[in-house]
Amino acid sequence: MTITTCFSPSNYSLYKNDEAIIVVIDVFRATSAIVTAFANGVEKMIPVATVEEAKAWQQKSCLAAAERNGEKIDGFDFGNSPLTYERSIIEDRTIAITTTNGTQAIVAARGAHQIIIGSFLNLSAVVNYLIQEKRDVIFLCSGWKNKFNIEDTLFAGAAAEQLLKHSLFGTDCDSTIAASILYQAAQSDLYSFLEKSSHRNRLAHLNLEADVRFCLQQDVFDVVPRCNAEGHLVLE
Ligand code: MLT
Repeated sequence: MTITTCFSPSNYSLYKNDEAIIVVIDVFRATSAIVTAFANGVEKMIPVATVEEAKAWQQKSCLAAAERNGEKIDGFDFGNSPLTYERSIIEDRTIAITTTNGTQAIVAARGAHQIIIGSFLNLSAVVNYLIQEKRDVIFLCSGWKNKFNIEDTLFAGAAAEQLLKHSLFGTDCDSTIAASILYQAAQSDLYSFLEKSSHRNRLAHLNLEADVRFCLQQDVFDVVPRCNAEGHLVLE
């Protein structure tokens, strides 16, 4: 089984492999928020590309989340902060969600054999799931507006390193090797390693430092959200 890493959704066509499982990564914060929502009992999430689509779902009595440039859009129930996805509000509910990058990556990967959601919060759950499934893996980093980012790459490196300990997996993909080297350099203190990174600073300027710290915790949740045939995120 091969592991590849795509640093930006704009490069996805170069890596596309219909037999692979795609792990969509947006550590700050979309995939961390989605994982938290499922750990807190949400039944289904509907990732959409546009604010208009999210609004249309909200009008059908779903909850709806919309974020652009790190900020919640007025009129929606949530932005993209994992800390706001509280069990008392979301348990057994459906949430439509659109974000600047993360949900765009999920939408870009549609048509793949399977799409799952990765974050540091569910790192081991994702790795165990991939080992169990025995398929090629593509780590799809959401980045920022189609540009590389460090935090998604660190997650790809962390997960790849664990998979490569199993004889089942191998790689000759330079971006996976680079992600792994970056994670090795960062792993003792991810928060400090990301000190100068663009989105950590963007979130700090929006007083969202607590989200940054939350999203960098490892193995808090044992859930693996995945896309069903309708493109909706569920646990089964
Ligand atoms: C996104 O999907 O663009 C990010 O999660 C941005 C954010 O931090 O809200």
